[in-house]
Amino acid sequence: MAKTVYVLNGPNLNLLGTREPKTYGRATLKDVEKLCREAARRHDFEVKFEQSNHEGEIVDSIHAAGAGGAVGIVINAGAYTHTSVAIRDAIAAVDVPVIEVHISNVFARESFRHHSHIAPVAKASLCGFGVDGYALAIDGLAALIGARRKD
Ligand code: DQA
Repeated sequence: MAKTVYVLNGPNLNLLGTREPKTYGRATLKDVEKLCREAARRHDFEVKFEQSNHEGEIVDSIHAAGAGGAVGIVINAGAYTHTSVAIRDAIAAVDVPVIEVHISNVFARESFRHHSHIAPVAKASLCGFGVDGYALAIDGLAALIGARRKD
């Protein structure tokens, strides 16, 4: 059976490439998707890559990952990281390892970005690696669950 990793992106990440490039770089969400698919291929994972500006849709995707037996979720919940108890509770409700990713180093930014509702229910968190953080998160997920690496 295919092992699927869900890569979930929250609000405003559809604007990657043009949104505050000094903070988030010039890579687009399409570039991020490509990066994730390349990383996932190394571990024989399928990728479900999604972006939503709506909190409830992200909650629904987390439930779908749980119901579908996903091997993991890589999530950049954007600003919902700092506000959403609903996304935190959805993660806690499913039996799927979650890796939290942020493109920027949130700890080097405004203090309201220093708190994450997701971190306490995530297996691991990483930030500040730019969009490469997504690939690192997939590699880290594979290491956590002991998946075989192809190269
Ligand atoms: C972000 C950091 C958040 O604070 C911000 O609201 C985002 C992007 C990041 O990837 O660095 O939308 O999650």
